[in-house]
Amino acid sequence: MTIQFFSPRGPGNEILKLPRAYRRSVKWLPQIGDIVPDFTVATTQGELGFWEWASGSWVHLFSHPAAFTPVCTTEVASLASYDAAWEANNVKVLGLTGSTVPELKAWHQEIEEFFDTRVTFPTAHDPGLQLSRLFGMMHEKESQDWAIRKSFVIDPALRLQMIFEYPIFVGRNTEEILRVIQALQLRAKTGAATPSDWYSGDVAIIPDDVSEEEVWAHFGTTSTQLRKYLRVALPRARGQNPLSPVRYALDAPD
Ligand code: BEZ
Repeated sequence: MTIQFFSPRGPGNEILKLPRAYRRSVKWLPQIGDIVPDFTVATTQGELGFWEWASGSWVHLFSHPAAFTPVCTTEVASLASYDAAWEANNVKVLGLTGSTVPELKAWHQEIEEFFDTRVTFPTAHDPGLQLSRLFGMMHEKESQDWAIRKSFVIDPALRLQMIFEYPIFVGRNTEEILRVIQALQLRAKTGAATPSDWYSGDVAIIPDDVSEEEVWAHFGTTSTQLRKYLRVALPRARGQNPLSPVRYALDAPD
């Protein structure tokens, strides 16, 4: 489906005045909840059919501008150093960029030597940046030649669950990617939501439609109603994040 953006409307049905250059049509703008389309790509570990490779795992699919560039180098080294965390959390990682497979292989090898870490995940070559365009990873005002740093977190049923977009000159935070995946996994397993600044093991928010029995089964505790609209459960092993506003409310003296 092609969506026209020629006369976007505001909440009162008024025509929004967009700069002429912003008027364009897009085929698809990936959104949370969309099934990621299947594709086949050449990677540093051979040909990869996405659905077959990804199905049953959580996936971090990330675009980056190019091999042998400084920020990208640090991102790949950082993602590689989290290898044990990806494995422990059933996460597969896949890079996507315009560089060729021989370039990517040589670059991964250099990263392994320089950072003393193994790059065990594949990176795919995107010829002509076609996939990057489909996935909304090309932001022409940022660069005509390189993809931005876009991350998709995809669940085991191939559904898009999280989208991050970073510009070319700001590297992503690997810990944040892991944190988000763990929050999504908690939601999928227990129905709980996660508060601001949550880390694994910290206080979770319990929506009204989760029964007390389910809270007990998942958290080994009962829930606490802090406000009419704010019900929480503290896992048996208390979390370590002192910045969590919910932890702060629970710990504050009356
Ligand atoms: C970088 O990763 O540092 C980078 C990528 C593309 C252009 C310039 C720098």
